[in-house]
Amino acid sequence: MKNHQKLLLMFLLLLFVVLLILEMQIVTSVQDIVERGALREQDISALEEKALQKDKPQTLDEFEMLVRSSPNSSFIWINYMAFLLDLADVEKARSVAERALKTINIREEEEKLNVWVAYFNLENECGCPREHAVNKIFQRAVQYCDPKKVYLALLGMYEITEQHELADELFERMTKRFKTSCKIWLRRIQFSLKQGRDVQYIKSIINRALLSLPQSKRIKFLSQTAILEFKCGVPEEGRSIFELLLREYPKRTDLWSVYIDQEVRLGDTDVIRALFDRVTWLSLPPKKMKFLFKKYLAYEKSHGDRERMELVMQKATEYSKISQA
Ligand SMILES: *[C@@H]1O[C@H](CO)[C@@H](O)[C@H](O)[C@H]1NC(C)=O
Repeated sequence: MKNHQKLLLMFLLLLFVVLLILEMQIVTSVQDIVERGALREQDISALEEKALQKDKPQTLDEFEMLVRSSPNSSFIWINYMAFLLDLADVEKARSVAERALKTINIREEEEKLNVWVAYFNLENECGCPREHAVNKIFQRAVQYCDPKKVYLALLGMYEITEQHELADELFERMTKRFKTSCKIWLRRIQFSLKQGRDVQYIKSIINRALLSLPQSKRIKFLSQTAILEFKCGVPEEGRSIFELLLREYPKRTDLWSVYIDQEVRLGDTDVIRALFDRVTWLSLPPKKMKFLFKKYLAYEKSHGDRERMELVMQKATEYSKISQA
């Protein structure tokens, strides 16, 4: 039992880190990058708090003092919960969770959410029956926090603890409730790919997503889906999505560029060169062409030889002669 509790303690401490990583998995738009900046700040403050951990409180009194001096710090509250779990005092840990939720200022949303997530984990570990106990906390949390974040947090827990069926059910609810969210659909696709679901199933999810997502998110959704497919062992599916997109938008250098990046990662030089040759044949504005030739040259510099590099430069020269003529 003791070891069991220790594990949970470690688990709770790791939670922030895992949440950060999950958040960072899909970075596409500028907004995402801005969000990532914000997360990095959190990351730093988490590190600072870790440094404080050197003098880890040892007693109930010490924890009481700490939560009085830093009432908004979910980190301290969660440590307090973990401390009590370590003493096998589940009831007391629950009551600390409740106190944390009452005490943390309403404007400190992230801090509050962290406590809710710790509370899910507590019930997931100690609740009886656990599904019911987790669900009760979840129902409360969605009323107080940004529902999308709460759903994602519960999902994260199901994924980490490998409760795949529950994750699947939750995804079904999420893709109904947040059906215009690209991020949620992509998470579902990523999850299904990692579960090794068959191509037909993945396609049905993609089609449902396309029916629900606003037109403005279509390219982002499809290109990100293609990247996921490349990364999850079905590159041929990813390829056909990129080809489809590029038939519609042959001048989108950004799409060509990520498509090439995926092939470079897989490493088939013939396929990669064929793509570069196709794209450098297009008649695109000089600035875009310059970008593509540079990319091609960089590729040959690290994967080809001098002769290959010269060939690329020759092509670039020909292009600039034609475009100036
Ligand atoms: C708790 O958070 C609120 C809102 O952000 C802030 O006004 C308050 O000063 C914080 N309390 C402490 C003790 O830091």
